[in-house]
Amino acid sequence: MSSLGELPVQVGPLSDELTYGRLIRGLRAQDIKLPEIRAELRRLWIEYGLIVFRGSRVTPEFQVDLSEVFGESEIHPVASFQHPEIEKLIRITTDTSGDDEDLIEVDGNVVAGWIPWHKDIVFTERLNHGGILHATKIVSSGGETGYLDQIEAYERLSPRMQRAVEDLEVVYHVTPIDESSFYADEKVRYLKVGAPLRAMLERDWPRVVHPLVIKQPGTERKLLNYSPLWAQHVVGMDRDESDALLQELSAFLWNIPAYYHEWEPDDMVLWDNWRMLHRVMPAPFDEVRVVERTTISGDYGFGRIL
Ligand SMILES: [Fe+2]
Repeated sequence: MSSLGELPVQVGPLSDELTYGRLIRGLRAQDIKLPEIRAELRRLWIEYGLIVFRGSRVTPEFQVDLSEVFGESEIHPVASFQHPEIEKLIRITTDTSGDDEDLIEVDGNVVAGWIPWHKDIVFTERLNHGGILHATKIVSSGGETGYLDQIEAYERLSPRMQRAVEDLEVVYHVTPIDESSFYADEKVRYLKVGAPLRAMLERDWPRVVHPLVIKQPGTERKLLNYSPLWAQHVVGMDRDESDALLQELSAFLWNIPAYYHEWEPDDMVLWDNWRMLHRVMPAPFDEVRVVERTTISGDYGFGRIL
């Protein structure tokens, strides 16, 4: 661990095994007023992709102010996710007693909160640059947030696969999650589709395209720009060949060791949505998990409407 600038704030690896991620302990609201600290936080975010802030005094205001160190806030395109009071936050809960939440059977277990590997808003041509997540209500088991580095994923691809995916593009579109074999490793069945997901499925989204390989803006490191969730087919490829390739890519990602964040009350997690995939592990359906997230604006410039 080293200190962040001159501050009594510790910075270190998230774990000894990971090539990405940083843990920052004890960051305070006043610290992010300093220009040199803001610049160092931005550098760490781009360099390491994922930052866990632990031991901070978290308030919605601090979460939003910290998020704006990394870019302007963006309002989420699906209004039903909106936080009831704070415009710059979205709220995702697993209170299955109301109309908002999904009830899902995953590998035979009835759960809530589960979301497979994805990039946020990959079903639009723009990818927002990231977000800061904070769990305001934690469940007794499960509900971890997983993160997977796609720079590492690209490096782990065989030379054959690196060549195969180099110039390909994938079409993304919102379709029912339990109807695609690319979306998830688990056997999934929706018992109840909540209002936010229903609104997403009912809306007439344009089909969009994202390249499978990009270079990270700023560092030029290659990354595998693939989101299993919402992937449909490879542009210009025969359907069977495309299905086989996407299935292979999804299975490849499912087998890469990932970081799973186990939430403590004052944690905030920041990630780079251009680089990292994330997911949510199943939570008990009879408990309530609540997370609130900022959306860091930006357009990585590689996507387009088909
Ligand atoms: Fe997400």
